Amino acid sequence: MNDTALNQQTDIEVTTYNKLYIGGEWVSPIDGSIEDSVDPSTGKVWARVAFGGTKDIDRAVAAARKAFEGGWRSMPGGERAALMRRFADLYQKNAPKLAEIETRDSGRALRESRLDVGSHHNCYHWFASLADKLSGRTIPIEEAVHAFTTRVPVGVVGAITPWNVPLMSAAWKLAPALAAGCTVVLKPAEQTSVTSLELAKLFEQAGFPPGVVNVVPGDGKSVGAHLVAHEDVNKISFTGEGATAKKILRTGGDTLKRFSFELGGKAPHIIFADADIEQALNAATSSAWALCGQSCALGSRVLVERSIYDRVVAEFVIRAAKVRVGMPLDDSNHMGPQAHDEQLQKTLSYIEIGKHEGAKLVAGGKRLVTGDLVNGYFIEPTVFADVRNDMRIAQEEIFGPVVVLIPFSGEEEAIAIANDASYGLAAGLWTQDVGRAHRVSAKIDAGIVWVNTYRYIRWSTPYGGFKNSGWGRENGLEALDGYLDTKTTVISTTGQFPDAYA
Ligand code: NAI
Ligand code: MG
Repeated sequence: MNDTALNQQTDIEVTTYNKLYIGGEWVSPIDGSIEDSVDPSTGKVWARVAFGGTKDIDRAVAAARKAFEGGWRSMPGGERAALMRRFADLYQKNAPKLAEIETRDSGRALRESRLDVGSHHNCYHWFASLADKLSGRTIPIEEAVHAFTTRVPVGVVGAITPWNVPLMSAAWKLAPALAAGCTVVLKPAEQTSVTSLELAKLFEQAGFPPGVVNVVPGDGKSVGAHLVAHEDVNKISFTGEGATAKKILRTGGDTLKRFSFELGGKAPHIIFADADIEQALNAATSSAWALCGQSCALGSRVLVERSIYDRVVAEFVIRAAKVRVGMPLDDSNHMGPQAHDEQLQKTLSYIEIGKHEGAKLVAGGKRLVTGDLVNGYFIEPTVFADVRNDMRIAQEEIFGPVVVLIPFSGEEEAIAIANDASYGLAAGLWTQDVGRAHRVSAKIDAGIVWVNTYRYIRWSTPYGGFKNSGWGRENGLEALDGYLDTKTTVISTTGQFPDAYA
């Protein structure tokens, strides 16, 4: 379903993915189009991708419904698990290739993509291992009845994924959905759809029944919204911006489907003076610039106890200069470009906002346009010091390699600043005092708190947000709950029912 040809004007090989994956077949869009996918390191088209239209969503949902009713929902969990394991093995085998394509499409440094994509098979394996363990409970009431619960899949799931981590986000949604017995229509983000189509090839190779997984790239506002509004979709699992989640609630509200949302973050990364400062700095700088800043889990707000504040600022400046920014496929580079032009412009505009707000720019702050980087969307690792928590650069999600450093005095102020945010996704905390670790982590409003580590995320640990960071959890047993309904059955042991009107 894809072929490669040389573009004479740009001298770049362009790969065309001209089919959607619907009902186990590779089909041309009915009312969609073929769109360009830009390599953000060169600003040039590197792939052409089939986008579905609303009619394509309709037939994908119909295929998913048919697969759900036609056998997937009632297939023994052990058989679903076997298919998922076969898929996971194929995924593992193909991970190096998938990582390269993900880097090409999203600009994420290959050294990061390799680590990330090289771990996803574990997620599919872990959820596969739960597919035959979806047991309910028996509920003791009286001898006259036997009451028990069973867990049933919610049905057809619309999975809407973002452009920063397309394969990871797909894994976090597909693995629990399939283990639960749901079928899926996956709509990846406009900017980075290619790896989701590669994923479809592996589901086909693994022998999944037609329609269990369907992949339809497309425009969010029209095609994504159509999937959300669709009467025959039972759940939307979404990762992206809070403003989009609110639109999704309005569009999908009429159908009363289920929703789970993984939205943004502005994670506080708190460093107390009693911390192992070297380790804290390793974590805080790595989580400032990983993924070129494009992850909701990153510690983009670093809170530093006053007695070590100057030292930490100085270290951030030294370490920012050591980040090798460059072509993401070059293994020696740490950081690639922003994933697309719009995000580049958003980050640059926040750097201007920070300067106007009176924050002190101590490192970076500019687009990089030297040599090879001239047409790419590269930005210097950027550090703002002396930031106040009420500044926009401290409150709003920038999603670029921009970190803000905020001083604090004592535990109480650290907690107050950490919680003074609309988001509540993740937080980090560095201290060698075990009592303080417990006290402070208990008081932070975040779905996940890391103590003396950061961004330690596994398929088995629930991940998701408090406050404006979302609804529901991905990963862990809680993720599975999001794709299951509980059904209670009460059976009389006597068959006797009194006549109320006798
Ligand atoms: P977005 O929320 O618009 O896009 C995410 C996904 O939603 C894409 O697949 C898109 O096609 C789809 N979508 C967009 N509008 C839709 C609609 N009306 N109905 C259904 N689906 C729709 O995010 P965007 O605009 O790409 O990024 C903006 C900002 O959002 C970023 O700068 C970042 O701050 C945040 N973001 C957070 C992410 C996270 O991991 N929590 C991931 C991506 C973005
Ligand atoms: Mg948007």
